[in-house]
Amino acid sequence: MSSSNQTQRISPDLPWTVRLLLAAHVLITDACRRSNITINRRLLNLFDPKVSPSSKPHNGVSSFDINIDPLRHLWFRLFIPMVTSDVSSIPIIIYYHGGGFASNSPNSIAINSLARRFSRRLKAIVVSVNYRLAPEHRYPTQYDDGFGALRFLDNVDNTNHFLPSNADLSQCFIAGDSAGGNLGHHVAVRASEYDFKRVKIVGFMAIQPFFGGEERTESEIRFSEGPVLSLKRTDWFWKAFLPEGSDRDHPASNVFGPKADLDISGLKFPATLMVVGGFDPLQDRQRSYYEELKRSGKEVKMVEYPNAIHAFYAFPMLTESSLVINDMNDFMEKQLAQRG
Ligand SMILES: *[C@@H]1O[C@H](CO)[C@@H](O)[C@H](O)[C@H]1NC(C)=O
Repeated sequence: MSSSNQTQRISPDLPWTVRLLLAAHVLITDACRRSNITINRRLLNLFDPKVSPSSKPHNGVSSFDINIDPLRHLWFRLFIPMVTSDVSSIPIIIYYHGGGFASNSPNSIAINSLARRFSRRLKAIVVSVNYRLAPEHRYPTQYDDGFGALRFLDNVDNTNHFLPSNADLSQCFIAGDSAGGNLGHHVAVRASEYDFKRVKIVGFMAIQPFFGGEERTESEIRFSEGPVLSLKRTDWFWKAFLPEGSDRDHPASNVFGPKADLDISGLKFPATLMVVGGFDPLQDRQRSYYEELKRSGKEVKMVEYPNAIHAFYAFPMLTESSLVINDMNDFMEKQLAQRG
């Protein structure tokens, strides 16, 4: 079966290196996900080698692992860019990685590289948070861990020497991709209702955030077989993450859906950047989210890359993976300038 209709294409032109990496990734994760909603962690870890932090600058960025609470494996990898010392304040990005809530960690090779790239190119300190994974830990563990990292930063004082003196806690951004984008949203909601001592969230960067719902959207149907995400995979991730017995209209997944009771208009929700890819099955939900923020009177900007697949940002060989950092940079500069 083939369709010559350009607007209905379901796969973009991709370099063979990307195709190969994607095929391997899908093969491995599918082999580790079991139909009884458990994960073969031993097998998955074999294909997810970890890298150590590097206090010696690597590509102009040094990194350190900071423990928050060993009991719940809460820690983060801190990335510090070598910016000139006369910079009086450096913004901080609290970053939540993707992986369907079920895989990856800040010391995974791809996540480590991405966070370092954010730090170098955005001239920001990046706090890449390790949150516990599903299905061993389900909702709301990931949100609690994500918010826990913010509260920890809020309590950092001069006796905690891991932050450079020009790190500016009043210039914090939340960023997350895919499941990390979903996490970022829920942390941003909690943060807008919380009285921080020093932390101030000035922006939220939602990179292809993972939202769901019972009713299928047009883009979910069109890209139901991928690339990268398929309905079978996303349904599995929701099953592994949401409380047992709940459906995809759970407010964690369908954040403005029929079972959600979220009126964002009254919240001090941060200015938001929404990043959308034209070959991402999640794009319709991301557009609805953008519309809802706008309707609620929030500052929100959407950037779209027509040729981008889900998780494009993880492939430096793709043009869009550079473009998105430029767009993030513009967004951050604008937010920081508005604050004077
Ligand atoms: C799920 O399946 C795996 C492999 O077949 C099995 O080892 C495991 O005990 C099962 N777990 C549950 C909770 O059913």
